[in-house]
Amino acid sequence: MKFFIDTANLAQIKEAQALGVLDGVTTNPSLMAKEGIRGDEAVKKHYVDICNLVPGGDISAEVISTDFDGMVREGEALAALHPQIVVKIPMIKDGVKALKYFSERGIKTNCTLVFSAGQALLAAKAGATYVSPFIGRLDDVSYDGVQLIEQIVHIYDNYGYKTEVLAASIRHAMHIIRCAEVGADVATCPLSAITDLLKHPLTDIGLAKFLADAKGQ
Ligand code: E4P
Repeated sequence: MKFFIDTANLAQIKEAQALGVLDGVTTNPSLMAKEGIRGDEAVKKHYVDICNLVPGGDISAEVISTDFDGMVREGEALAALHPQIVVKIPMIKDGVKALKYFSERGIKTNCTLVFSAGQALLAAKAGATYVSPFIGRLDDVSYDGVQLIEQIVHIYDNYGYKTEVLAASIRHAMHIIRCAEVGADVATCPLSAITDLLKHPLTDIGLAKFLADAKGQ
């Protein structure tokens, strides 16, 4: 399973990268705004900074156009910034056309704002590299987000689609574990969800005892 971090915060990206388990980064316009990154040039520079922090990782950069021509123009400019950029495109009609356009040209894509199996099927047929079902937001409205991941993995397996299932909108460590159980290819997580995987009280108690015994106490 690949681990991506879902943030535009450079300090958090550095911390996850230092842990040695990071495979990529996802961002979105809200995450960029949260870091105070505004304006075309600042946003582009920030994407390049993120790419340089995670060598070889896939870095999603989201288009903000909603028409085909605009998405193509923006996506091409984003892809030209750095070879690690993955163009993030919303699941709307023109988005599906843009996914197809980019897949035919060998440019990686991440289809975002996916909330149903039908949307995921369309993204795969259009050749998306990643599909991002938002599981936390589904849980928020009383649908089982992980069940959607399981359904999409099953459908993709039926037909051998290459599109990777990227579980997004992850809120906590248990989400990551449940997504791993049902075969998500990637989880994009807040740093806290990744570091919470570390925690177990028996590890802390066991380590304290080993260290005490090592000192002869
Ligand atoms: C995915 O790429 C999105 O950036 C993200 O996971 C959205 O999650 P949220 O529901 O925490 O905003």
